[in-house]
Amino acid sequence: MTLTVRTRVAIVGAGPAGLLLSHLLAEAGIESVVVDSRTREEIESTIRAGILEQGTVEILDSLGDHSRARSLGHRHDGIELRVDGEGHRIDFPSLVGRSVWLYPQHEVLTDLIAARLAGGQDLRFGIVAERIDDAETDRPRVVGVDADGQPVVIDAEFVVGADGSRSVVRSTVTGSRFGGHLREYPFAWFGILTEAPPSADELIYSNSPDGFALISQRSATVQRMYFQCDPETDTAAYSEAQLWDELQKRVPGTTLEEGPIFQRDVLRFRSFVAHELRRGRVAIVGDAAHTVPPTGAKGMNLAVADVILLDRAIRSLLLQGDERRIDEFADAARRRIWKAQHFSWWMTSMLHASPDASDFDRLRQRGELRSIVESEAGRTYLAEAYTGWPFATA
Ligand code: DHB
Repeated sequence: MTLTVRTRVAIVGAGPAGLLLSHLLAEAGIESVVVDSRTREEIESTIRAGILEQGTVEILDSLGDHSRARSLGHRHDGIELRVDGEGHRIDFPSLVGRSVWLYPQHEVLTDLIAARLAGGQDLRFGIVAERIDDAETDRPRVVGVDADGQPVVIDAEFVVGADGSRSVVRSTVTGSRFGGHLREYPFAWFGILTEAPPSADELIYSNSPDGFALISQRSATVQRMYFQCDPETDTAAYSEAQLWDELQKRVPGTTLEEGPIFQRDVLRFRSFVAHELRRGRVAIVGDAAHTVPPTGAKGMNLAVADVILLDRAIRSLLLQGDERRIDEFADAARRRIWKAQHFSWWMTSMLHASPDASDFDRLRQRGELRSIVESEAGRTYLAEAYTGWPFATA
């Protein structure tokens, strides 16, 4: 027995992109169904980055009381770039009149899920999408199975793949599972969560001879920190004392507040942009469409930017029968995607020690960092990109 569900927009993936899109469409009276292969608990406990651009916080304000970004999160007016133990503050408000919010992605997801369920959203967990049929007709369909193995078909007028970097929907759009522009990096981040007070008021991005470290935060009692490591590193390979040594030696000038480490993970670095973002009535957004290395925390913010554009385009298509915006969607999205790709690549390559770097490379990198921190124009570019370019709504 196949379970058939009818809706206007079928959204594959209940991450920030899929959930936000269902919310924005609902505001325009467009009904959608969101499916995800994971359970709600898995989704809400996925550890990701913690920085929201100002524009992202403003969009989340439309969730009303469900968004706790402003009440539980913290506004950050700057970051510190540390170069060989010397700190340089990038002051966002004075440079660009904007700020960012420290509010972890899993909290954003918790808020979005609560808001969608309160709004009566049809949100189904444990459904594995297997393929998309009839992408180039006006009745595209998601074909999959539920947690009991029962076949499920979602008949829609538009299908959105917001199903992350291992997207199933992507192959419908690009013609292959991984069709896209790809760059890999010879390093990764070792991330920890520790129960300790903050070691500094703001985030510290440190370039040191021993490699990069980022001292981030989660709350008054929990901190997130990362240090550059080999991509093949085994998380069990370090004792807690060794982890603190690795972190501490990369932030000369600060004594880190140490506490028990209760979570460790290795984050791989990739830059990826799918060759196509839409085929007929199927589009991909967020990590399904592109991946950025984590430096600068652009991933979720970029997903939000895609969704704002796609929401406008689907509204025009389904409410007015106007195809112009959906035809322009991919080009419009790519304008920001490649700016964010550049910024994420640039922050990454400027701050990390590449294992095959020559003396020339290392000294040039020092010069690059100085040309940013010692110049108002340089600091302004960093602040503008970090806090986020205004969202295009055209
Ligand atoms: C965090 C992650 C980032 O990649 C970043 O640039 C800033 C903060 C975080 O997880 O807190």
